[in-house]
Amino acid sequence: ELARQISVNSANSPLKLFTQAKTTITQIFKNIASYVDYSNKFLEEVSNADKNLITDDKYKDIQQLNDKVNRILSVISRDHMKVVFFGRTSNGKSTTVNAMLRERILPVGMGHTTNCFLQIEGTDEAEAYVLTPESDEPKSVSSLGSISNALSREKLDSDSLVKILWPKEKCRLIRDDVILVDSPGIDVSANLDQWIENHCLDADVFVLVISAEATITVAEKKFLHNVAQRLSNPNIFILMNRWDATAYEPESVESVRQQHLDRGLEFLCDELKLCDRKQASEHRMFFISAREALLSRNKDPTASPRSGFNEGYQERLEEFSKFEHEFEECISKTAIQTKFEQHTNRGKEIIASLRETTANVCNKSQILKQESVQKLTEMDEKNSFLEHELRAMTESAKEKIRHISEDVYKRVAQTLND
Ligand code: GTP
Ligand code: MG
Repeated sequence: ELARQISVNSANSPLKLFTQAKTTITQIFKNIASYVDYSNKFLEEVSNADKNLITDDKYKDIQQLNDKVNRILSVISRDHMKVVFFGRTSNGKSTTVNAMLRERILPVGMGHTTNCFLQIEGTDEAEAYVLTPESDEPKSVSSLGSISNALSREKLDSDSLVKILWPKEKCRLIRDDVILVDSPGIDVSANLDQWIENHCLDADVFVLVISAEATITVAEKKFLHNVAQRLSNPNIFILMNRWDATAYEPESVESVRQQHLDRGLEFLCDELKLCDRKQASEHRMFFISAREALLSRNKDPTASPRSGFNEGYQERLEEFSKFEHEFEECISKTAIQTKFEQHTNRGKEIIASLRETTANVCNKSQILKQESVQKLTEMDEKNSFLEHELRAMTESAKEKIRHISEDVYKRVAQTLND
């Protein structure tokens, strides 16, 4: 039923796969909660009625299921899909995130801009706010300038995490439970293992943003090798960004594209062995311009419609949308598997343990019932034997009395005659 619902409704966005699975699994666990509650009440009555029917340990185990189910429900409500963006300084990571969010949320700029991890997640509040590691106090932000200000006031090391809580109503991606993590340039930190440990282990997707004017670097490869060691089969997308620059050298576009493709595929398929070349070239590598994508989605109303776009921009915009679709499909599928498979298994365990306990109680009560029926039958048999004896005794007593009275009668008659 879920598969059917999902296929009907996923026409718009593959992310709905995740949000619908989350709604469905929440409903299933609410049903499990009421089943657990009902069974608890039943077993309480059973244990009050007859201590032999259920052991104390088993009874306590079942009572604890209530808390367990509620804990799982609260974990499910916090489950989300997480994507981490990484790459060298100034490759366009923050611009890509902004383009996907369809708004200039993160500060971007030349040189080294992002100086710590920035996590953008949803809030039901109407106003955005920032949470920094130093204080629990939410800092309000109403514009991009104040996000930059809020960040530049802090002395943060590259490993620390700043959370930007963005109103869900403003952005579809965030409304659908996607958390986006932007990182500082991979070349500014020596401690990549720490990054992975702190920010990447629960990521469903990694997006490597490369500048098409350069190429994939040793630092980026090393980072991904370490990721692949910690996580089995990570989902990695490679974005060849700044593809708008090819407008200035149209004669070399194809050879440059081929060169990037060859290197990217060699890395993903031959070195990391994540997928085959066909799959990687169709679904994992994209030649885009984050700058143009952001511009097309977040237009300056005062600028002329074509300003800022290079020759051939439409193809790059289409490629960006294609990347987003592949990304959404991949992240929702992975997140459902990694997050909900565990919950499903826990749910099955809970139901199995409840079923086993109630079946045991039923069996025991059945045995007790049979025993008492047996006793009743035995007593019945004894009763009817006694009844028979009694009847026989009464009959013979009557007979004797008849004999005696006849005898007495005869004697009296005799005596009278005499
Ligand atoms: P750090 O945060 O410093 O690591 O950089 P980043 O990877 O986040 O890059 P950012 O998004 O700040 O972009 C750096 C500069 O490149 C900015 O001036 C962007 O406007 C520019 N830029 C980003 N994407 C593109 C693109 O596709 N084409 C062109 N021409 N410029 C781009
Ligand atoms: Mg940045």
